[in-house]
Amino acid sequence: MAFDFKGNKFKPFEKKVWLSSPTMHGEEIEYVDEAYRTNWMSTVGANINEIEKITCEKIGCKYAVALSAGTAALHLAMKLAGQELYGQPAPNEGALKGKYVFASDMTFDATVNPICYEGGIPIFIDTEYDTWNMDPVALEMAFEIYPDVKLVVMAHLYGTPGKIDELKAVCDKHGAIIIEDAAESLGAKYRSKYKSNEPEGDVGRRTKAYWRETGTFGKYNCISFNGNKIITGSAGGMLLTDSKEAANKVRKWSTQARENAPWYQHEEIGYNYRMSNVIAGVVRGQYPHLEEHISQKRAIYERYKEGLKDLPVSMNPFDGDNSEPNYWLSCLIIDADAMCEQVRSERKPLYISEKGKSCPTEILDAISFINAEGRPIWKPMHMQPIYRMNPFITKSGSGRAMTNAYIEGEAVDVGMDIFDRGLCLPSDNKMTAEQQDAIIEVIKACFE
Ligand SMILES: Cc1ncc(COP(=O)(O)O)c(C=O)c1O
Repeated sequence: MAFDFKGNKFKPFEKKVWLSSPTMHGEEIEYVDEAYRTNWMSTVGANINEIEKITCEKIGCKYAVALSAGTAALHLAMKLAGQELYGQPAPNEGALKGKYVFASDMTFDATVNPICYEGGIPIFIDTEYDTWNMDPVALEMAFEIYPDVKLVVMAHLYGTPGKIDELKAVCDKHGAIIIEDAAESLGAKYRSKYKSNEPEGDVGRRTKAYWRETGTFGKYNCISFNGNKIITGSAGGMLLTDSKEAANKVRKWSTQARENAPWYQHEEIGYNYRMSNVIAGVVRGQYPHLEEHISQKRAIYERYKEGLKDLPVSMNPFDGDNSEPNYWLSCLIIDADAMCEQVRSERKPLYISEKGKSCPTEILDAISFINAEGRPIWKPMHMQPIYRMNPFITKSGSGRAMTNAYIEGEAVDVGMDIFDRGLCLPSDNKMTAEQQDAIIEVIKACFE
């Protein structure tokens, strides 16, 4: 019967249950108020200094530079890496001009657009099924095809750390710089055999494992305080690094790249990317609640897992021995043989209901019927119209033009498969257990 949109027993929630919305606690307004009363209403002030300090202590990096957005942090990370690899560009050119950069494929577009801001060409690396992040086997394959690539940008989707050690080993082998996009994974941890990013001195200690936060594994890394993230400033982001020189550059570039002169003197292109001290006040008030938010999100994940256990679905997976996600978004993926027919054009989906089966579109419609917000899995970058001509590498080679009219069979495109069968569930930490139970019942009804 599938979900009965006309005759079902469900009552829509009076107040919408969001995918992931800001959760304020009270301290935020005090720090904002302090900024107002003391007139530190610009891009300098105690709130900024304090959250940079807190972030370094929490994450275990040497430097954190507060910026207007995670996207700004990624942009300046690309610029740092580009200049380091290829030198300072002309003012009208990007630091990655014409250069290939390997990037996560199943991610939000802010991971990869900054490659293009700097004139680079993203090559998308397919996803693995174990954590839904960049596949180290596909990454190795990409280096075989493009041995000159020197920069890799990897994200930790939905707060789940990827296979970091394997990815790092591939990057180290090929001498590539890593940029880690930890925008969604603030507070997530990974058990690494590497104590730090310094190759020297670690070799003898590799029998041990070290719990480290995401955002410490790349040379230049990013976190986000966007309104939907695990903690928020309403907006904002940070660049994280262990390099003093890089942190100083980012402070300079993000405030219009002024030279040390009595007037506005410029030798480099600058940006207006620094965080406001008002926004920083919100972030400062949120930080004490990071662990609380993570445990609420974890409880949501576990409640879904238990509630959905008899259905032909599974939750977004993670490596429980070697990682602790921040559980930012709970997702599910439908078993291939329990999928009803579903097609998606560039803008619209269509499906055919089938008894005992369902699909992401039906589930999202049903969830929306009771006034709750889910979302499709982030559509992989290699499927996006804007990146349709960019190379895409799977674990068996190029992911473009993979079929042959004269030969039977389909090639594996993991990202496309997860996008087809997966969806993000309402994961707001203000959702009550009763509301979540109702959402679970709705999902069950989709499979009746
Ligand atoms: C994976 C990922 N990278 C980057 C960003 C960009 O962060 P911001 O919105 O702070 O610019 C986001 C989210 O917005 C994201 O989900």
